[in-house]
Amino acid sequence: MIAITGGSGFIGAHLCEAIAKQTGSKPINIDINEPTSTRHCIYKKADVKNPPEMLAATVGVQTLFHLAAQISVQKSIENPAEDFETNAQGTLNALEACRKNNVRTFVYASSAAIYGTPKYSPIDEAHPTEPLSPYGFSKLAGELMCSRYASLYGIKTVRLRFFNVYGKGQSPSSPYSGVITKFATRIKSSEPPIIFGSGAQTRDFVHASDVAAACIFAAESKNTSGNAYNIGTGKETSILSLANVMIKISGKNIPVQHKSALEGEIEKSVADVSVAKKDFGFSPRITLEEGLKGLL
Ligand SMILES: NC(=O)c1ccc[n+]([C@@H]2O[C@H](COP(=O)([O-])OP(=O)(O)OC[C@H]3O[C@@H](n4cnc5c(N)ncnc54)[C@H](O)[C@@H]3O)[C@@H](O)[C@H]2O)c1
Repeated sequence: MIAITGGSGFIGAHLCEAIAKQTGSKPINIDINEPTSTRHCIYKKADVKNPPEMLAATVGVQTLFHLAAQISVQKSIENPAEDFETNAQGTLNALEACRKNNVRTFVYASSAAIYGTPKYSPIDEAHPTEPLSPYGFSKLAGELMCSRYASLYGIKTVRLRFFNVYGKGQSPSSPYSGVITKFATRIKSSEPPIIFGSGAQTRDFVHASDVAAACIFAAESKNTSGNAYNIGTGKETSILSLANVMIKISGKNIPVQHKSALEGEIEKSVADVSVAKKDFGFSPRITLEEGLKGLL
């Protein structure tokens, strides 16, 4: 049996669908919130902050994808303790439930936020980890636990460091979200996308269905136990060129709008994904243009 924590969320929903299509059976979706549809999952309400609920939800599970998290950097700054409880303690609870229930494989949704300001580019997995926010710290704490659970208890844990994930189903009000989702919302209502600063800052945008595929390959591969992998595309896109491509796809004649740069914003972010390619054949399929067409 396969289960996903956070299966009601943006990436979780893509992963539920990918697993249901690949295996022919619906995975269990462990989440505090109901999914918008149960077409591709069996919903089990449980809170990762609650150890008995997690223990009960993972009975009979062989593979757990742990995606449930508090994902807002801003909220983590306002309330670091709450962020830590959901993301770090929640990951420990999920790992403990797996240890007690003999779950063999644990795939952890980590984040490029654990790296902090890039010291070189592209960012490989050996890059120093100096998170800038409590969110980054709590995701890193989860990683360290995963790593130790592999060596101490023999659970196959795999840590996947997602870069900027986009795709259908990302809420424009989601704090993580998605410059792409925000631009799409503005362009659809014929308003200019807002760019903070010059727009020269770059990001590595990876489609949610490629991220879902990476999760599945990483769980299935024999080479991944205890390891961490970047999940991006290896291609960097400037925010200005992103806005221009999106406007072009929309066929609308709207300008971009610049506002003053955000303090402390990372200038350049792109993943080196060669290790994921080598160890489990990860190769993102959806080009940015293709992925964007589905959103506008
Ligand atoms: N979206 C991105 O670009 C991105 C980038 C890097 C890492 N990530 C990581 O990927 C994972 C999924 O992100 P997402 O964008 O799909 O976020 P999301 O907010 O859409 O989904 C998170 C899900 O977790 C659930 N959840 C929150 N607290 C919970 C709790 N206490 N118990 C059970 N369920 C709980 C929510 O209800 C939600 O369904 C997260 O771990 C996030 O840190 C996302």
